[in-house]
Amino acid sequence: MAILVTGGAGYIGSQAVKELLQRKYEVIVFDNLSTGHRELVRGGSFIQGDLRSLEDVRTVFRHYQVEAVLHFAALMQVGESYADPQKYYLHNLTSSLNLLQAMLEAGVKYFIFSSSAAVYGQPAEIPILEDHPLLPLNPYGASKFMVERILPDYDRAYGLKYVSLRYFNAAGADPDGELGEWHEPETHLIPSLLLHLLGRNPGFQIFGNDFPTADGTAVRDYIHVADLAGAHVLALEMLQAGGSSQAINLGSSRGYSVLEVVQAAEKVTGRKISPKFGPRRPGDVPVLLASGKKAETLLGWQRRFSDLEFIIETAWKWHLNH
Ligand code: UFG
Repeated sequence: MAILVTGGAGYIGSQAVKELLQRKYEVIVFDNLSTGHRELVRGGSFIQGDLRSLEDVRTVFRHYQVEAVLHFAALMQVGESYADPQKYYLHNLTSSLNLLQAMLEAGVKYFIFSSSAAVYGQPAEIPILEDHPLLPLNPYGASKFMVERILPDYDRAYGLKYVSLRYFNAAGADPDGELGEWHEPETHLIPSLLLHLLGRNPGFQIFGNDFPTADGTAVRDYIHVADLAGAHVLALEMLQAGGSSQAINLGSSRGYSVLEVVQAAEKVTGRKISPKFGPRRPGDVPVLLASGKKAETLLGWQRRFSDLEFIIETAWKWHLNH
């Protein structure tokens, strides 16, 4: 029996594929390579296809004995989702519905879904617990929320067992140096900053220095991509062992401001920057911080790589060599 990984050629998906292969799972990667990269898929079978085509998806289940699906494939730029919401609902919602339909037709019952802290919207309390109201502020977050909303109905009616993993800020690169963040364009803080230090992103700015935080810049909860990957395997194994459907935060309960990240990057790289401040980015909240307790207690998840300097060190190595 194999594990199907959609979006397995992407940043987090490729790291999860590596983790599954190390644990001797048979892996099938399904990716349309619109934002993923074939070079990041380090093993398993590879199928290039599009989840928006139900036929493409059905073909996979006809050819392989799939036990579980890890569903990473999605668009993930908040700004773009404001500008073109239809694109987000087609890619993130229709695709998920097709995938679930093909899974149910094939009798596949385990589903690990890549959700996001964006489902919470403006946090009413920090750290954010899983039972915090879900009030997404943008079409990206709404598309993730809608899939999450569907899943309990499919569990009740069809016995689908799922875990929605709500990522906070995914960051860092493969500790072995084989995989890393490769987005075009790059919008995330750590890679944008490191590319700036490498002279490849001259326009780097800090978005906002008037937030109600200690230094005025926004605070986020950065999680190493290898820790995220590990959590997927734990969630899968929880379901295989008969565990119940869940939504679980993947965060560290520890926040860093943008300026703290800049300082850490200066320390790790030995290079200096004089950051320019720009206006706040629309929709950015001052502080996003997860309670990571549920992942620890329910999955036994331990963060091995999520120290900020280690995150930056691994990302720096990746960008230097890539
Ligand atoms: N930032 C800058 N300059 C940059 C890039 C980012 O100052 O060039 C700031 C942002 O304004 C934000 C922080 O750095 O305050 C982190 O920004 P990222 O773009 O790296 O991450 P976000 O917190 O905006 O987004 C992340 C995920 C999204 C998800 C969101 C949850 O990347 O997919 O968390 O709200 F939707």
